This record gives sequence, structure tokens and C-alpha cells, in this order.
Amino acid sequence: MIKNSDHLKKFEEEGFTYVCSFGDLKEYSGKRFFVNDVEIAVFKINSEVFALSNICPHQQTHLIYDGFIEGEFVVCPAHGWMFNLRTGKKDSGSNGLESYPVQIFEDKIFIKVSPKKNNW
Ligand code: FES
Repeated sequence: MIKNSDHLKKFEEEGFTYVCSFGDLKEYSGKRFFVNDVEIAVFKINSEVFALSNICPHQQTHLIYDGFIEGEFVVCPAHGWMFNLRTGKKDSGSNGLESYPVQIFEDKIFIKVSPKKNNW
């Protein structure tokens, strides 16, 4: 028999971190979290959860969590750059935001974010 604690341990071993409960997220609205010192934006869209970097590559604003949703994209509220919720790529297809794997177990959301590397 598989116990809940087995699932949680497996997620931890795979590098996932508990972030919040499913009910903590509002549909079509982002929320900001720090995981392993990395700032991320988490969205719930039609009961699917997506995690992206919260820092826009255009002018490094920390506003992606506050972006509005247009189809499968989140739009940076600063100047309108658009990023795919699933991949983080820009609407042109070029690299944009880092995207992070999400696991949901029961009411818990886990996200895998590698710790920041310091280059000093
Ligand atoms: S800072 Fe995001 S589009 Fe300019």
C-alpha cells in the first residue's frame, strides 16, 4: 500500500518543494513565491498549474505574477511581452522565462526549482 508520506518523500527526493495548497491559488491570477531563493510566479488556469520565473527578461521587472492571461500566454504588465505559460517561451518562439515542473498531489502543489548558482 502506498502512503501519502511515500508520495511526499518521492517528490522531495526528486527535488520538488511544497509551495502552497491548490486552494491558495485563484483561477486566472498569479501568485509570487520564493523556492530555493528563486523568485517564481505560479498560475492556476482551468485547474492546471504553471510555474515560471517571476523576472521579466526585458527590463528585469519582478512582475510576471501580476501579468494578465491571454489564451496560453501571460502578458508582462510592464510593456506587454508575452510568455507561454507551459514553456516560458516568448510568443515569437524565442527564449523567454524559465519554466518549472509542477506536481500536484491531493491539495498540495510541489514545484521543482534548482537552487540559484552564485558566480563568485
Ligand atoms: S519588463 Fe516585461 S515587458 Fe518590459
